[in-house]
Amino acid sequence: MATDRKPEFFKGAQLRVGIIGCGYVGLPLALRFAEAGHRVTGFDTDPEKVSKLNAGKTYIEHISQAKIQQFVNSKHFSATSDFSKLRQVDAVIICVPTPLDERREPDLSYVEDTARAIQPNLQTGQLVILESTTYPGTTEELVLPILERGGMRCPIGRGPEAENMPMDFFLAFSPEREDPGNKQFGLAQIPKVVGGINPASGRAAQALYSQVVARVVPVSSTRAAEMTKLLENIFRCVNIALVNELKQLSLRMDMDIWEVIDAAATKPFGYMPFYPGPGLGGHCIPVDPFYLSWKAREYDFATRFIELAGEINTAMPYHVVDAIAAALNSREKSLKGSRVLLLGVAYKKDVDDLRESPSLKIMQLLHERGALLDYNDPYFPKMHKMRHYDYSHMQSVPLEPARLASYDCVVIATDHTSYDYEAIADAAKIVVDTRNATRRIVRNREKIVHC
Ligand SMILES: NC(=O)c1ccc[n+]([C@@H]2O[C@H](COP(=O)([O-])OP(=O)(O)OC[C@H]3O[C@@H](n4cnc5c(N)ncnc54)[C@H](O)[C@@H]3O)[C@@H](O)[C@H]2O)c1
Repeated sequence: MATDRKPEFFKGAQLRVGIIGCGYVGLPLALRFAEAGHRVTGFDTDPEKVSKLNAGKTYIEHISQAKIQQFVNSKHFSATSDFSKLRQVDAVIICVPTPLDERREPDLSYVEDTARAIQPNLQTGQLVILESTTYPGTTEELVLPILERGGMRCPIGRGPEAENMPMDFFLAFSPEREDPGNKQFGLAQIPKVVGGINPASGRAAQALYSQVVARVVPVSSTRAAEMTKLLENIFRCVNIALVNELKQLSLRMDMDIWEVIDAAATKPFGYMPFYPGPGLGGHCIPVDPFYLSWKAREYDFATRFIELAGEINTAMPYHVVDAIAAALNSREKSLKGSRVLLLGVAYKKDVDDLRESPSLKIMQLLHERGALLDYNDPYFPKMHKMRHYDYSHMQSVPLEPARLASYDCVVIATDHTSYDYEAIADAAKIVVDTRNATRRIVRNREKIVHC
């Protein structure tokens, strides 16, 4: 039966909101809706996360335990693995992972499973929004047909002629722009792009998000919203590759790329600084562009910038390991048999996130070349088994001066703020710095190798 709910319904106070996937994206979003006074249920297939959340505990470093506790106590937030409770919510937001599979192709199994879990519980007038990053067409081509399997309809349509189409439920896409650990831009300050399967769905999603973010940016379709997210991340990926390539050239030309970037960044228009590093990391930038490359093949189209950027960024950990070998060589040591300490396994500073971290590849390459490796990371006291790597036997070593001095080489892979770089440079024999973390250090410059 077609819904008589108007999109404006989702502007209402005390909505019941379901968030599927309580990870880096879903959990802050759930807390934001709770903060705005709505009743939020977090759905997650991981029972450990569910029980932690219901006990008011956090499992993500930068997400406040006090906030979770506060909203659990006030009954604005609870978590469950029981998907039949989806029947009780007004809006459902999907925040599940979208990784690449072994062949580096989109793995949409989490999104598919979630759509299948929603379908038997779908209620007339419900709003479903996909937030997981994906290729243009996913909401229309994958999610919509699964949700419609039970006979309920959300017709695809754009423009004035689609204005008054009858529909049973609303469906939209809105990309997440969360930058974990960014203290300047939190979820509430970041404008949210929204595109609906039809105009009413778009307006329903706008109404919902307008309560929790400062600005909602409507676009004409779910595909435009999906593509917006990919454009943003491809832009970052390509520019990081460009600066990584220029860094390697600058090293060869004996120039300081960081000085050049800082100078270029004074241009008040037409330039935006990107910084080189040991390679791409995180769940988004190394992964998302390949969602578009994959989709482009359906149109006989080669996304050459994406491929080239991927090639350059993927080669960066190899560049770092070559630089470590060269630094040791300058001290008449071979990489094989040398004791190397890697600082920082997280993919970027001050986060407890290892996903796609270039440190993991650097560690693998160092192992393969016979280095005797330890690591330190305040966010990872010990390592766990991952999809492609198993460092579960390793534990973060303490950073006392005597211990630092016992390594042949110390590598700064992640520039965590808590590191005392002066003390590190004082104690270490050689420091290979992939992040320019030692830029302000005056003493011991002769020990520092930039790469
Ligand atoms: N992390 C970021 O900074 C970021 C930023 C922008 C966009 N994104 C995108 O957001 C999406 C989610 O990423 P994330 O970083 O939050 O992932 P995450 O791994 O931190 O969280 C995903 C959560 O979903 C749960 N889950 C998996 N399958 C499920 C299912 N079938 N039903 C219910 N729960 C399920 C997992 O247990 C986990 O708690 C991805 O598409 C990602 O590309 C992430």
